[in-house]
This record gives sequence, C-alpha cells and structure tokens, in this order.
Amino acid sequence: MSPRVRRFALPAAALLIGVAALLTALVVTLQAERRGSGVAVGGPFALKAADGSTVTDRQLLGRPFLVFFGFTHCPDVCPTKLFELSEMFRAMGAKGDAVKALFITVDPERDTPAIMGSYVSSFDPRIVGLTGDRAAIDAVIKEFRVFARKVPLKDGDYTMEHTALVYLMGKDGRFAGSFNLERPPGDAAADLLGRL
Ligand code: NI
Repeated sequence: MSPRVRRFALPAAALLIGVAALLTALVVTLQAERRGSGVAVGGPFALKAADGSTVTDRQLLGRPFLVFFGFTHCPDVCPTKLFELSEMFRAMGAKGDAVKALFITVDPERDTPAIMGSYVSSFDPRIVGLTGDRAAIDAVIKEFRVFARKVPLKDGDYTMEHTALVYLMGKDGRFAGSFNLERPPGDAAADLLGRL
C-alpha cells in the first residue's frame, strides 16, 4: 500500500466497520422483537398531518399499517421508497383503502405540515405525511429505534442520514417485521392484503 492509499484505507475501514455494526445492531434488535423477547419497536405517538389534524397510533388499531422515516429534502432514498409504496398501493386497488403508510419526517424544522402535505401529494393518497415539534419527533424516532443524523453541507445547508427501513405494524399496533418493497408491487400488495 502506498502511504497515500494507507491514509484513506484506515478511515474507510473504520467507517465500514461502524456501518456494519449499526446494521447488525438494528437487525438483532428487530429479530429479537419478532421473536417476542420484549424489545419493543414502536409505541404511542401523536403527530400532525398536513390538514392540521392529529394522527395517533390508537386511530390505526385494527388494521396493519406501514411506517417509513425520511425527509422532504431527501435526494434519492425517500422519493424512491414513496414511489415504491405508491406502486404497491396502486396494485392493491380499492381493497387496500383501509391501509395507510405513514411517512414521518426526521427533519421537523424544515418539514412543516404544509410542506409534508405538498410533498406527499405527488404520491398515493394513502401515504400520510406526518410531522410534529422536535420533542414529538425525537420520541417517535426513539420508539422505532430509528437512526437519523444531521449532516452539514458545504453551502451551510444540511442533509439527513436516516434509517430507510419500512416498518410493518400489525393490527394490534405492534411491530410485525420489516416490510420488503424490493419486489414486484403486486407481490408486496398481496402480502399486505393477506394481513387485513
Ligand atoms: Ni431519505
């Protein structure tokens, strides 16, 4: 290894190990929850929808729902996931009308209810954009064991790194597993309809 390569190799290796550790911790946590060993993922929340109404976990009891965390300035991951969710809803048709997917911002300072509303209006109406004050968002981030971090950009702006997992919550409001969108929309739709 040249000294030049060595200078970059160590930080790069450290970063990779850090990311791997983070992913392992998440997977272990989520698997533990699926086995019912008592490590809770999810919990009570009360967040603001675009129309100013409050959406709570209790209103969603009785049918499965999906939860995804992100932010409207996201350049790639969030729009892709929301598109995949929209395609799944389209494949579900009216049979899936009782099902909601919550898009919860990790960037409440910029993502006001109006901005969230205008952003999700490009996607399926069953995707509900939710925000809240910093304390409410921090609480829900903690409950769902979401990783979210502000990353400064050169121009004084910032972006967010965040967990891109889609959470499947069961009819009882409890975490049922991560929901796979990396498959044909019809397959994801059938999976979710089978849980109604
Ligand atoms: Ni994103």
